[in-house]
Order: sequence, then C-alpha cells, then structure tokens
Amino acid sequence: MLLLVRNEPDIVKKLIRYYYNGSHNFVLKSEEICALTWSKQQELLEATVQCTIVKKYPVNNEFSRLYLKRLISQLEKANHEVHDELYVELCNVMNNNTLDNNIFRYRHYIIGNDLSNVITIKETKNMVVNGTTGMRTWEAAFMLVDWALCNQELFHNKTVLELGSGVGFTGIVISKFCRPREMILSDCHDDVLKTISDNIEINFPDITMNENKNYVSYVNEKHYLGTINLDWNDNNVKNIAFKNLPDIIIGADIIYDPSLLIPLSTVIEAFLQSNKNIIMYIASVIRNEETFHNFLKILDMKGLRYQKLHQEESVYVEWNNNIQRCLLKIQSS
Ligand SMILES: C[S@@+](CC[C@H](N)C(=O)[O-])C[C@H]1O[C@@H](n2cnc3c(N)ncnc32)[C@H](O)[C@@H]1O
Repeated sequence: MLLLVRNEPDIVKKLIRYYYNGSHNFVLKSEEICALTWSKQQELLEATVQCTIVKKYPVNNEFSRLYLKRLISQLEKANHEVHDELYVELCNVMNNNTLDNNIFRYRHYIIGNDLSNVITIKETKNMVVNGTTGMRTWEAAFMLVDWALCNQELFHNKTVLELGSGVGFTGIVISKFCRPREMILSDCHDDVLKTISDNIEINFPDITMNENKNYVSYVNEKHYLGTINLDWNDNNVKNIAFKNLPDIIIGADIIYDPSLLIPLSTVIEAFLQSNKNIIMYIASVIRNEETFHNFLKILDMKGLRYQKLHQEESVYVEWNNNIQRCLLKIQSS
C-alpha cells in the first residue's frame, strides 16, 4: 500500500530523502542538529550508506562524499557530537574511486512515504550516451509515474506498452505498484534495452527471463514484464507479435526531436487504428514550444483526439513543478 508524500518533521527521514534524491546542498537548522543524537545518526547511516541495497548497488561516490562532508561539517560547526562511523564512511568513499570510472551509477528512488519502497535504477547522469538519450531517467518520467500512481486503477489488469522507455523507471514502477496484467517496455537502442533488462532484474530479483525472437519476457508470481525493440522509424509495428495487444500506451519525454515527430505519431496512429479503445498517455517537458505544438498539429491532422490532463504537484514521487510541462491523453476519434 503506497502512502502519500507529506511533511516529514523527522530530520532523519528528511536526510534519508536528501540522500536518495541525490541532494547534498542541505542546510540543517539548529534544532535539527540537536535532534541528531548518536542513535539518530546511527539510524541515518543504516538507512543510507550502510543500507544493504546501497552496499549492493552503490550511488555515485562523489555524491556520497559531498553528502557526508556536508553533514559532518554542519555537526562539527555546531560543536555537536559526530558519530565515528560517519567519519569511517567518509574515509571509505574518499578511498574508493573505482566506481566513478564507470559511466553507470545507481539511483534509488523512494516511492511514496514508506522509505522501504525503493526502486533502484542503473543509469548514467549523461544526457546522451552512444547517440541515445535513453541512459538516464528524465523529469517527465517522474511526472508520468506520479500521475500513474495517483490513477493506479486505470492500469489494473491492463496490458501497458511504453514507447521510448529509456532505462525503464516508469515501466518498472507501474509494474510494481499499479498491477497491470503485462508491462511491456520498448526502445530502439540495444544498450538501452540491455540496461532495461538489468534494471528489471535488479528490481524483481526472483524473476525468470524467457527470450522469444525479439520479445523478452520476465515473469514471477505477481509480475509480467516484457521488453521489445520497437523503433518508431520501422513501419512494421502492426507485425509485432504481442502476446496481448496493449490497452494502454505510455511515453515519457518522447516528444523532443523534430525529426521523430512523424515516425512517433505514425506508430501511435497505427496502434490506435489497430484497436480504437487504446488510450495513450504522454508526459512531456516542453523545452521547445514549436516542437511540441507541431506534434499536436500532426495529431490533429491524423484525426487523433487529445486532451491535456492535470497533475499540479508531486504526490508519490518528487518532480519539478516549475518547469513547462504537459500530460496528454490521446485517443482515436
Ligand atoms: C529523452 S529519452 C526518455 C527516456 C524515458 N522515457 C524517460 O523519460 O526517462 C527518449 C527515449 O526515446 C528513445 N527513442 C529515440 N528515438 C527512438 C525511436 N526512433 N524509436 C524508439 N525509441 C526511440 C530513446 O532511446 C530514449 O530512450
């Protein structure tokens, strides 16, 4: 059961969230420093740098160094007792630079208020890697996930297809928390598809993988996921052998490249023509208004209906509501 994000007066919880959100620029108030007793610092260590999942899937080393340094320096400045294991952990990260040579790092995203509901994603911090933008999680994915978690019932027992999944955050969260019958993640880049597969295995450790032509399925007692190479530039989406045709199609941050607007909209049109009941949801950060408006114009030209949905603020997953954004619902007319 997911809980909503609420104000958390507890400083340990706040610091845990900063850690998992990748923020190290926090400023502690004097009463918060006072509340960080030895046992609270112990609690914080156990929930962050010493936590089993973080030990297994380490976050960026440089981030851990900055986070621990910031915490320790604020405690020291206030003449507050510093847990000796905080110093030990700082030394550990300072002496360990092996992982920083790797372009991948792990991010642990807390879903809702329960700090144990964590999704771990292997990703890079780079916008483009080997010619793809798919190797990191983008802001629109947080917005789409948040909206999906607020509307979980729409996904119950449905086959959901994601276009341009990137590292797989959205599809993995929907599969974990929204109880779809099947969650299919797609992309066109081999490295991205390999990373999606790694991320499915990280988040569903007991899953069994089966490969059948270009469709890979992952099954355990409660979840059914699939990955597929689906390139919007291929004209053969109608020939893709889905086990179940999608009821819902989703996409986060897939409207960004003017040269992809026609191929993307053609794929959407082909799916919506194959089944008039399919509903598509796209979350976008609008970086270039012209590109976004051109996409809407193409939808109009194809006779596809769309409406703008509203998600005003973060509920389950934090995202930046100061950016220009849009959540679209698309249907056939
Ligand atoms: C900006 S990223 C968004 C990734 C992910 N949805 C997210 O929000 O974190 C765009 C994604 O679209 C994929 N993509 C780009 N061109 C594509 C194409 N022709 N066919 C399928 N996927 C494509 C990229 O590989 C990348 O994963």
